[in-house]
Amino acid sequence: MGTWKIGIIGGSGLYQLDRLENQQWVDVATPWGDPSDALLTGSIAGVECVFLPRHGRGHVLGPSQLNYRANIDAVKRMGVTDVISASAVGSLCEDMTPGDIVVVDQFIDRTFARNTSFFGEGLVAHVSMADPVCPRLSLHVAEAAQAAGANVHRGGTYLAIEGPQFSTRAESLLYQQWGAHVIGMTAMPEAKLAREAELPYALVGMVTDYDCWRQGEAPVEVEAVIAQLAANADKGRALLSHFAASLPSYREPSPIDHVLDAAIVTEAARRD
Ligand code: ADE
Repeated sequence: MGTWKIGIIGGSGLYQLDRLENQQWVDVATPWGDPSDALLTGSIAGVECVFLPRHGRGHVLGPSQLNYRANIDAVKRMGVTDVISASAVGSLCEDMTPGDIVVVDQFIDRTFARNTSFFGEGLVAHVSMADPVCPRLSLHVAEAAQAAGANVHRGGTYLAIEGPQFSTRAESLLYQQWGAHVIGMTAMPEAKLAREAELPYALVGMVTDYDCWRQGEAPVEVEAVIAQLAANADKGRALLSHFAASLPSYREPSPIDHVLDAAIVTEAARRD
């Protein structure tokens, strides 16, 4: 222990990193099935990193087709200590504008067609999700985003929808009333599974659109999301470089490294 190994789950813009040294694609098998793709290992500023293209190279898997358990298990098997999740998000509030970065700290989960746990049959565990992200990792990420020149929002509630369709206007207005700040399709159950895997997790939301609640604004379309992501790819890469360069060389243990100690209820497991 004491050494960081950063897992990055994100879109294609992020793994085309010229600053990632000693790149190697590695196939990883898991008992939960196949992850979205092979994993790309390498290092940035001396920090070991493992990238997983969330939707597979070429974006061939939709949000409901992703094997979230295999993805988290695969990064865990690669020896990752902490996970940064990067994704496009729609904004549900006026002051989070396209191009901004939101370092999310809460979630509302409206997904319904996904495997959400590693536990349940034979081994029962209930982890706390009260504070679903790692504050230490989120702080490092937010500072790196700022250093990369982004307009950064520290904290925000992410509402996860099943998709693949975008929301109706009535849903978008409802989610605003619930206090959600951004909306996306992939952070749940990813964040829950990361917690079950004892992996500190931070979410970098790149705002691409205003969903469909805003008067006088065209409702979100894929083309606008892709254009905004392309415009921000450099910022995402700069963020990762600043992040790696500013990590302390020694990784102090995190309480999240041991959350299962207090979460398993199955008796045989508790005796072992
Ligand atoms: N990803 C990017 N923008 C989105 C939106 N408006 N709704 C859901 N997911 C998104």
